[in-house]
This record gives sequence, C-alpha cells and structure tokens, in this order.
Amino acid sequence: MRQSIISRSTWSNRWAFILVTIGSSVGLGNIWKFPYMTGSQGGSAFVLIYLLSILLIGLPLLIAEILIGRRGGGNPVAAMLDTAEESGGSAWWGLVGWAGMIGALLILSYYSVVAGWIVDYLCKALTGFRVETAEAARSSFEALMDNPLRMSLWHTVFLTMTVGVVARGVVSGIEIANKIMMPGLFLILVLLTLWGWKAGDMSAAWHFMFDFRVGEVTPDVILAAVGHAFFSLSLGMGAIMAYGSYLDKKSSIVHTSLWVVAAGTLVGLLAGLAIFSLTFRHGLEPTAGAGLILQTLPLAFSHMPGGGVFSILFFLLVLFAAWTSAISLVEPFVAWLTENQDIRRSVAAWGTWLAVWILGLGVCLSLNRWADYRLFGLNLFDGLDFLTSRIMMPLSGLAIAIFVGWVMRRAAVEEEIQLRGKAFSAWYHVLRTLVPLAIALVFFHALR
Ligand code: PFF
Repeated sequence: MRQSIISRSTWSNRWAFILVTIGSSVGLGNIWKFPYMTGSQGGSAFVLIYLLSILLIGLPLLIAEILIGRRGGGNPVAAMLDTAEESGGSAWWGLVGWAGMIGALLILSYYSVVAGWIVDYLCKALTGFRVETAEAARSSFEALMDNPLRMSLWHTVFLTMTVGVVARGVVSGIEIANKIMMPGLFLILVLLTLWGWKAGDMSAAWHFMFDFRVGEVTPDVILAAVGHAFFSLSLGMGAIMAYGSYLDKKSSIVHTSLWVVAAGTLVGLLAGLAIFSLTFRHGLEPTAGAGLILQTLPLAFSHMPGGGVFSILFFLLVLFAAWTSAISLVEPFVAWLTENQDIRRSVAAWGTWLAVWILGLGVCLSLNRWADYRLFGLNLFDGLDFLTSRIMMPLSGLAIAIFVGWVMRRAAVEEEIQLRGKAFSAWYHVLRTLVPLAIALVFFHALR
C-alpha cells in the first residue's frame, strides 16, 4: 500500500517545518474569527479561556498529531494505519485519518469563500475605497453578501491560488510559498500593531482583551474558546499530521511545537490588539460579528491619516494568513491521492480543486439565494462551520489523544518524541487524562 512513499520529500530543515506549521495555524481563525468572537463572546473571559485551552489541550495534542505523522511517515490515513499496526491497534483507527482529510476539505470549501471576501476588499483597498459612515460600510459588505456571482469569482481565484501552490510540491510549492509569505505577514503585523498603538486606543483594547471578569465565564464562552483553540491550531484535520510526516527524524517535536504555539498565539493577540485599538479609537462596537474586520475596520481606516496604505497592508496580511492555512487544508487529501492511489500530484491537486470548488459555490449561494434552505436552523455556510469546528475537530482530537495516550506502545511514543523524565511524564499524563476529559465535557455540552 505504501510503495510510493519511499521517495517522499522532507522539509529543508526544522525551521521550514516550524514556518509552514505556523503558516497553517495562523489564518482567518486568528485574524477574522478570533477578534469577532472575542467581541461577541464578552472579551477577556473568552481570551483567557482560549489561552488556557491552547496550553492545556492544544499544545499536548499538537505534539501528539505531529508525532503520529512523523512516526507513520505517510498521508493521514496511512500514518494512522501504520502507527496502529505497529502497536497492535485496530485498522479502524484509519478512520481518524479519513475524518481529518474530509474535514479539511469541508473547511476549505467555506474558508475559500471567506478568503475570497478578503481578496475583494484588498482590491477595493488598492483602488482607494473609502466609507464615510457606518451605514455605507454595512451596505458595501451586504452588497457583496448578496452577490453570489462576485463571491464565487473571488472564491475561484483564491482556491486556484491555493491549489496552484500545492500542485507544485511539498518543498518547491508549500515550503517556498510559506518562506515568502510568513516573513511578510510578521512584518506587516508589527507595523500595524505599532500604528494601532500610535493612532488607536491601545489601552481600551488591552482592557477589553485582558481584564478578566469571572462573571463572564459561561458554558457557552468556554465552548467557543475551546473550539476556537482547536481551529486556530489546525488540530484534528490531518493538516498537522501531513506536515509532520515530512519532518526529518532529528528535529525535536516538542521544541517545534512550542515555537508554533507561541508564535501563533502571539500573532492572534497582536492582531486582536491592533484591530480593537482602531475599533475603540473610533467609538465603534467590537461586537459586529463576522463583519468586524470587513465593516468596522474599513470605516476606521477611512477616517485616519495613512488609513489607505494601512488598509492595503491589513488585507494583504489577512490574505497571506488565509493562503498559507488553506494550503495546509489541501495537502492531506492530495498526499493520500498521490501515495495511495498513485495519481500524479498535479492531477490530484486539480481534482481536489474541482470538488472543493463545487461545494464552495453552494456555500456562496447559501448566503443569499439559498439562505432559506436550512438544516437544524443552519444554512450550508454555518452548518459546515458547526460540523467541522464543533463536532469533527473535537472528536478527532479526542481520538488522537486516546490513540497516542492509550493505544500506541509507550516505547514507540518515547522513541519518537525524544523526551525523558518529568517533562515526558507531564505531557503523557495530560494527554491520557486531562485532554480526553476536557474534550468530552465540552463536546457533550455542545450537543446538549
Ligand atoms: N488554523 C487555521 C486558522 O486559524 O485560520 C484554520 C485551519 C487550518 C483549520 C488547517 C484546520 C486546518 F487543518
């Protein structure tokens, strides 16, 4: 089954892996979803529980997922099957790989649509777009939401850019794209944060994000924060497993994971501070929801000296973040097609494009023409988000924790992770008990 894996690529070095994994992690989740969820979920309570979940659930799971990928050395299905077989586990574990690959494509179908909105706004920013009033900002966003053709066009453009990179290969496509975009992203973020500090109301943003009020912690906030920790670390969807499978045996999994978590979280927090400082400076509401960065921010930009240039930089930043994440959503399935079905990478990539493109068209229509077609009260767009981030990601995460903690032989885990003594015990213990327990609690609450 794994005959074609023999000549697999590996990242050029450990830093390349760290960079691509941060690229996967930092995305629309950090810059689009995180600020608006913070805004609508009561601010600091959400932020602190999110940070706690990243540390206690996200980090141990990230390590576990990279570990499976590298140990198995193949696409998510093959990696799950091989690591299970090595430890005498059932072949059913292959389903975790399947769920991840399919989940990734489902996410991509709406992710690409939202990223398309960003491309639309980047083009607007480049042509000097300004909105004078909140009303004008809202109606320009609504005009886009009501126009399935325009939305589909940008979805097509974005998906083509994404798949084009994956089709070029692991090192010459994915690694190079990240090496160009990620430094650009960091640089722009630093500039924007400094600008937010100088021209915005950073202290209001700081208080909004970090003044912890116990009364605001509700089960819903916990649920949203834990779910978001999964989403923002790209967990359970095969992306990290696929990337981990191209990691050389010498690199330390724990060390690389710490870098990914630290940098990814920092980017999210900085983006939040920059966005809220501008929002508050103009007396705008942080609770605008999904339209926060597309309605509130353009309004703020239009009223500030230098706003035109910064709005171009801002949307470029979001585009880079979305692009590098979307790439990681394509790779697991393409890896499976090339390795298990012996399909050429370019054919596999463009075939995947077609499937995701069609589903994405449905997502575009679900926001307008098909808005009344609902399942459990959710349209296709919200339904896919709910299914993937509230159900599939936590369940896959649960399965991965149980698999590495209880099914894989401890000796295999120890050999792969290269960690000894107290540090190993602490991680192993948390992964076997706290992580499954926390996920199970949150998950059953979500379905109540
Ligand atoms: N982590 C990405 C974000 O925060 O935007 C989204 C994501 C990428 C989720 C890859 C899952 C995944 F496998």
